[in-house]
Amino acid sequence: MKEEIEQLLSRVNDLKCSSAKEIEEARVALLGKKGEITRLFDEFRTCAPEMKREFGRKLNELKQAAIAKIDELRQGASSENVQEGPLEDLSMPGNPLPLGSRHPVSIVRQQIVDIFRKFGYDVAEGPEIEDDYHVFEALNFPPNHPARDMQDTFFVSVGHPNPLLLRTHTSSVQVRSMESMKLPIRVICPGRVFRNEAISARAHCIFHQVEGLYIDEDVTFADLKQAILLFAREMFGPDTAIRMRPSYFPFTEPSSEVDVSCNICHGKGCNICKGTGWLEILGCGMVDPNVLEASGIDSKKYSGFAFGMGLERIAMLKWQVNDLRHYFENDLRFLSEFDTAVEV
Ligand code: PHE
Repeated sequence: MKEEIEQLLSRVNDLKCSSAKEIEEARVALLGKKGEITRLFDEFRTCAPEMKREFGRKLNELKQAAIAKIDELRQGASSENVQEGPLEDLSMPGNPLPLGSRHPVSIVRQQIVDIFRKFGYDVAEGPEIEDDYHVFEALNFPPNHPARDMQDTFFVSVGHPNPLLLRTHTSSVQVRSMESMKLPIRVICPGRVFRNEAISARAHCIFHQVEGLYIDEDVTFADLKQAILLFAREMFGPDTAIRMRPSYFPFTEPSSEVDVSCNICHGKGCNICKGTGWLEILGCGMVDPNVLEASGIDSKKYSGFAFGMGLERIAMLKWQVNDLRHYFENDLRFLSEFDTAVEV
């Protein structure tokens, strides 16, 4: 046994292996359950009592030497790896992570929110799954009114007097603001809206809006016109002109659609403005007294204006995107175009 111990000790001292796999194999061969040193410990139990002291000491020395050797080899292997690996110089800068870019709709949303914040508007948000009351009824769309067909609706529950549906515009948030906020009210409501439309280059069943509402005493159409003009100049440049065309919405009277002068051809006529020199950007009007009264606001004392615009449309005009579907396909070649377009 003594000889065996000595032989093993010199083998342990001469042990040479470099890879982690070889070191582990050597460890198992010596110290594993069926390893040689483990076997010697088993044999040690049966040896004569007068030999136990000497053999015990030698065996323990062998075991410690084997453990120390394996540790030493492991450290050698890992410090070799460090030298070859990417951590060689810990002061080197890390590998850069590729940065994403903001979605064009988010960029436009932020610009609009920033402009109206400067004018003193707060941002209000509301649920995307709404009830009929907040999307239609409180906005002067009586049941079965043909104006409901202007916004083809996805219903979540039917057969109920106040069914749940996906909001078709964020005017529902304006209703909620009128119900809950103290007067005067100045809010903009950005958010996602849904309409049951066939998907094409010019229409999508999901899109984004920012709608705005201002209610106070003595608010007039002149205030509306001024707010829209200031907004258009901030958004499209200081030389931008606006024109208003009469229109119809159940919740505003009078109602208007607003065009801005084409910022590509500066009014001369090009294929973006289809030769007219004007681009349509939003709908607006004076809040119908019925709408104020439905939310408990005295329409004799207060008046207000509202407006609403589609973000995809504004982004299309800003960057001459010719197909709405690009906004929803998450094609990185499209999305990365807007990296350099961030101007704020
Ligand atoms: N809610 C209208 C729409 O989605 C836009 C609008 C808002 C028009 C406020 C007038 C006033 O089409």
